[in-house]
This record gives sequence, structure tokens and C-alpha cells, in this order.
Amino acid sequence: MRAPQWLNDAVFYNVYPQSFYDANGDGIGDLKGIAAKLDYVVEMGYTAIWLNPIFVSSFRDAGYDITDFYTVAPRYGTNEDFAYLTAEAKKRGIKVVLDLVAGHTSLECAWFQQSAKPEKNRYTNRYVWSNSVWDTWGGNLISGYSDRDGCYMKNFFYCQPALNYGFKTVTEPWQLPMDHPDCLATRDELLNVMRHWSKLGADGFRVDLASSLVKNDPTGEGIIELWNDIIGRYKAEYPDNVLIAEWCNPKRAIPAGFDIDFLIHSGLKAYTTLFRYEAGTSVNDEFNHGDSYFRRAGKGSVDEFLPEYLEHYHATRKDGFISIPTGNHDIPRLAFRRDESELKVATAFLLTMPGVPLVYYGDEIGMRYIEGMSSKEGGFNRTGSRTPMQWDDSKNHGFSLSDTPYLPTDPSDNAPTVAAQKDDPHSLLNHVKALIALRKKHPALMAQGDFEVIATGYPFVYKRTAEDETVVVAVNPSDTPRTVTLPPIGEVLLQSGVTASGDTVTMDAVSYLIYNL
Ligand code: NOJ
Repeated sequence: MRAPQWLNDAVFYNVYPQSFYDANGDGIGDLKGIAAKLDYVVEMGYTAIWLNPIFVSSFRDAGYDITDFYTVAPRYGTNEDFAYLTAEAKKRGIKVVLDLVAGHTSLECAWFQQSAKPEKNRYTNRYVWSNSVWDTWGGNLISGYSDRDGCYMKNFFYCQPALNYGFKTVTEPWQLPMDHPDCLATRDELLNVMRHWSKLGADGFRVDLASSLVKNDPTGEGIIELWNDIIGRYKAEYPDNVLIAEWCNPKRAIPAGFDIDFLIHSGLKAYTTLFRYEAGTSVNDEFNHGDSYFRRAGKGSVDEFLPEYLEHYHATRKDGFISIPTGNHDIPRLAFRRDESELKVATAFLLTMPGVPLVYYGDEIGMRYIEGMSSKEGGFNRTGSRTPMQWDDSKNHGFSLSDTPYLPTDPSDNAPTVAAQKDDPHSLLNHVKALIALRKKHPALMAQGDFEVIATGYPFVYKRTAEDETVVVAVNPSDTPRTVTLPPIGEVLLQSGVTASGDTVTMDAVSYLIYNL
């Protein structure tokens, strides 16, 4: 295995910094707040946290529009606070992974301000610019920003100009090849950013839009070459640190040098067929999938998920891992239109699959997607998944003492909280905690354990194997009870709604079973 060994029993916790815990009472979550909650992270059994962007930003895309890559945004604290957080995390055996927005910056970034000048300077080619303000190439060009005659290319929103790593195939005079010295200089700067935070204790990076850096590169050859170079140089200095791609195409991301790639909303259909919500909801159609497998309605099929998943799994498992997260800040929460039992079955699956699991903050208590929220900092319909963590029933659910929190917390009477679930043995929180503990105790359930499908449909049954141990997992997310023949049960590790007589097993509606042979 090429990826760092510590990933084998890793469970990531994705902390959205502005919404986690506000230590200084200004209404916005901060690094001191995250440090104050490290004991909770340890208690749950998570082994690593990934923080969404924490650098100085214009916050037109919630921090994914960075102005200064070397400094913590004042609203989150200081670079010293980051070093303190990593030191405290290290004491508790927790890794800290940062978000690296490699493909673009904000418009206010000093590099871009220089680049936008008509006079030639060191940053003229730091971004992708055409050479006439009237160009329309490819539709991603933004014209008229400054007196520089040309358009800059946006990488996502208009306020996120694309950094210039070059074009794999040059088709216009203004396009630079990947090996142009100015494009190589962009790579070097990125590497410096990575070094800077690693020195302050970062254990690696989740790379935003990792596939977006090289332009005119349909076969992916250019981007794979670029990441092999950057990651190769980084790992020569920090061999034990992790690189996680937001690529959603493990077959490309792992050969590019990443240790983990997410299987989520973009690119592949696989995640959609498992989890997304019903058609006709108010959230945009991109994520809609009325027949998703993990629903009581029982209309989905893992056969839509498996071929694609297995193709990526087999192609990458020797070198790296797939991560199927419980959710993230870009998509509706797992709890959207799912009740607690459905969430328990879904998490039983998510925490027993191969690769590296990741829990989005609040998903362990079933925090809801809040529909109809006004957009905050470029969140639009994503805002409802970014509301503050609900710790208890005090003001702002214990997130902040401020009268003006970053976003309101869940207004409903029965909003889930950590305090309410902590001492309830049947809570979702304790279920997730038990699953994490199980995973860390049984090598078969860890990232590298083998994976073999036993039965598709409802229930979905699979085998995980490592060393001399085999663990079988059966999930029935549907409302229809099922009776199935399973490999003989040795020791039951975790179950709900299951009765067994010999090798005949009856699974109630929305039930799961995890056992040893
Ligand atoms: C993916 C991030 O997850 C998303 O929140 C952001 O808006 C885009 N990349 C652009 O950086």
C-alpha cells in the first residue's frame, strides 16, 4: 500500500470551521473553538479532522476564495492558534488536515491584483488570461475586470480566477504550455503553501477541485502528471502526510498520487444512486434521485452503484482509498427526508465499507438540512447544510453566545443535540460511536480489508476480510421485511431488527446486521 499506514483505521471528521464552536463569542466558529471540542472528537473515536478553508478570504464562497494563502482568517484566529490546535490534536492522537484550494484565488488576492495590471510583472501569467477583452473562448472568460486587455478565466464562481498551471494542448496564442516557467512557478508557490502549513502541524490536505488545474486536458494526462510532480515533491518531505482529492474519480485521482478520493456528488453517479433525495423537492435537481437505495421506499438498487464502485475500487485498492462520506457542505444532509432508523442503516453501511470513512459534522446526531434558508457567503441552496453544530439546548444550541450567530441553528423543537444523545444508549450518536469502535477493533472492517459482495437488492450483503477474520454486513434500508439465507453467524457484533434461526435470517423493515463468521 502506497498510502500512509495510519489511514487503515482512520475515521475522518469534517469540521466546517465557521459553524462548529465559537470560543470568543463573535458569532463565528473559530480555531480555539475547535481546540476546545477536541475531547469530543476523541470520545467519538474519530482519528482525524478535515477543516474547510481557514485562510484569509473574501468569503464570497465561504472561504473557497482565498486572498492570502499564508495566513489564518482573523475571524478564525491566528497562525499561532492553528499551531496550538495541531499541537493539542497531536497530544490526543488526532490528525489535522486542511483544505487546499489549488485551482483559484479570490479577486482580492495580491497575486491577482498584480496580474490584472496592464503592465507586465511577475504575476502577469499567474492566472489564465486571454489577450483581448473581446475573447469568448470556452465560455469561462470574464471580461472588463481591469485595464489589462484580456479576460481572466474563472474556475468556479466569477470571483474565483483560475490559477495558471498551463494547458495540456495549446490551441490559442494566449494559452501557455504546462512546462512554461510561469506555470511551473505557480506549482512551486502551491508547494510552498503546503510546506508552510505542514510546518505548523498540518497532517495533509484535501484538495479542492483537484482535477481542475490543467486546462484542455480531456484525457487527464496533464493533470496526472502535474499532481505526480507536486505530490512527489511534497511526500519526499512529508511522507506520512495525507493527500485527499476532491476529484470524484478515484481511477484518475489515485494514479495522480492522491491517497484518498471522495466518491460523492460530481463525476460519478455512484453516490447519487445510494443516497440522494426525492425528485420534486425545492433543492436543485442536480442531486435528485427519487430511487436512491437508502430509503424506506425501497425503490433503489445497489446494482446501479456496484459496477462503477467496483471498477474504481479494484483499479485503485493497491495504492489508495475511496471515501464515501456521510455528506459535506455542498449537498443536502444525510438526514434530509430520512428518519433515525434510516440513518442508522445508512451509517452502518458507510462505516463498514472499504476505504476511509468521513463523517460530516452534525451527521452523527442527524442534524437536518434546513430548507429555504437565505444564501450566506455564496452558499445558495448549500446553506441549509452549513448551520451551526447543535451541542445542547442553550442559546444557539451551545454554538455561540452571540446574538448574531453565523447562521441560525435548526429552529425546530426537537432539533437533535449532542447533549440529548450522549447518555441515550439508543441514540444515533451512540450508534455512530459504536460503529467507529467496531471498525477500529476489527482489521476486516478497516480501510484495507477485502470486500466481496454476497447479495444485492434488499438486503445488500457483503463480506469484509483481513488476516483470519471475516465480517459480514447486511443492510435492509427498505420498509419491507426480508428473510434471507446468510453465511453461518458466529458472533453478532451489532444489529437492529434481526432474528436468526440457523442460517435463515429475518430482517425487519429498516434493519442491519454485522457479524463475525
Ligand atoms: C468545491 C467546494 O467543496 C465548494 O464548496 C466550492 O464552492 C467549490 N469547490 C469552489 O472552490
